[in-house]
Amino acid sequence: MRPLTPDALNPAILNVQYAVRGELAIRAEQLRDKLKDPSNTLPFDKVISSNIGNPQQKGLDQKPITFFRQVAALTEWPALADLAPGVFPPDVVARAKELIQEIGSIGAYSHSQGIPFIRQHVAQFIEERDGFPSDPANIFLTAGASAGVSLLISMLITGPTDGILIPIPQYPLYTATLAQYNGAPIPYYLDEASGWSTSVESIESAVQEAVAKGIKPKALVIINPGNPTGALLDESTQERLVKLCEEHSIVLLADEVYQANLHHRDTHPFTSFKKVVSKLRSPIPLISFHSTSKGVTGECGRRGGYFECTNISEQVLALIYKMVSVGLCPPVSGQIGVDSMVRPPKAGDPSYDLWKQETDATHAVLASRTSIMAERLNALPGVSCVNSPGALYLYPQIIIPPKAQEAARKLGKEPDAFYALQLLDKTGICVVPGSGFGQKAGEWHYRLTCLCPGVEEYVNKLEQFHLDFVATYGA
Ligand SMILES: Cc1ncc(COP(=O)(O)O)c(C=O)c1O
Repeated sequence: MRPLTPDALNPAILNVQYAVRGELAIRAEQLRDKLKDPSNTLPFDKVISSNIGNPQQKGLDQKPITFFRQVAALTEWPALADLAPGVFPPDVVARAKELIQEIGSIGAYSHSQGIPFIRQHVAQFIEERDGFPSDPANIFLTAGASAGVSLLISMLITGPTDGILIPIPQYPLYTATLAQYNGAPIPYYLDEASGWSTSVESIESAVQEAVAKGIKPKALVIINPGNPTGALLDESTQERLVKLCEEHSIVLLADEVYQANLHHRDTHPFTSFKKVVSKLRSPIPLISFHSTSKGVTGECGRRGGYFECTNISEQVLALIYKMVSVGLCPPVSGQIGVDSMVRPPKAGDPSYDLWKQETDATHAVLASRTSIMAERLNALPGVSCVNSPGALYLYPQIIIPPKAQEAARKLGKEPDAFYALQLLDKTGICVVPGSGFGQKAGEWHYRLTCLCPGVEEYVNKLEQFHLDFVATYGA
């Protein structure tokens, strides 16, 4: 028996890179273990995971929404409602009963596409959000948005000359999945100087360049609001992007998992691509992704999400159905999570006041933390940071002094990874270097989440580290 070695595996796996759980995150776990040893000499007493948008992670601040958890508890164990009379508000008891009546046991496989009753609620949510019809038959419930993205990319890529337009910087799910299926990433650059805006012209030239190299652009990925940038698209840019897809027969993959994470919702609301495509009566094939992982829900561990197909033929829908049925069904607890996300309590319901209080508090704290952090980072020498209007992140640019770049290269590291590793070792704060998301040659960034409690203490650490770094390596 020969041992199993990496060279016996699918070589595409070796090309997959996923920085948010990469070198920095692995080192952070090692440091966390070290902290458990009372004789450790580390210069900090906790590791802060600012590397991943995991709102309810231990040590971070976002509280679960009570309504969400109460519905989850009663659907897990329906007898609890009678065993603890008066504990659960009547609307929660009624909601759980209704779900259980439809679903039966949460421990059973469901419809592969997702429980029809819940898909109906997703369709109602979309109709109310956009003012255009949505059909439950076009909705697929998923184990988080990642499962849907991965499935669609696997179906679209037929070989190495098929490409997908990816924003730079991007969320590395896209390049990782493309690497896995041997597709070609076609990068287009977001413009930092104008708040990480999306330029239709730069996408157009990326299309031309790809075609000249023999790569066929099959799909355009738009992350709105953006990760890692937090940028929010305006409707006229969205319309131009839809036209561009029409012109080049490109499928639009709209990643809208941060649609509820907007810091100025009254003045800068979210517009979905479904709404824009419907308004323009555009024939472009559109797949829109959403998730329970982000927003005020923040239930990433529950793995709930959905995608909606617009302008997708019956034959292709049948093939998508065939592929999801190979995986049997998305987690039923995740599907129930989707139901609570798209059907929160309404004004007048017994659970409404608490739900409103909790969600308002989460929005307010994220907005204030983001702007305080951006302002303080901007005041540091050699740092510039777009004050992100949405999502959960900031993506500051840092000038890395030549001496530090040299020290990084000697260790075989990218300069921004070198900076991030030192930040982790000196402060316990784990961020992700910009090289994991993509950036222009010669520029350096890192991404940090805005989820940490105690913003003052946290930012003080970031500032002190940066000033020490500059003092050591020069400006
Ligand atoms: C832009 C974007 N899309 C998709 C995902 C995947 O989310 P999930 O699979 O948890 O729904 C994430 C997670 O951080 C993300 O940032």
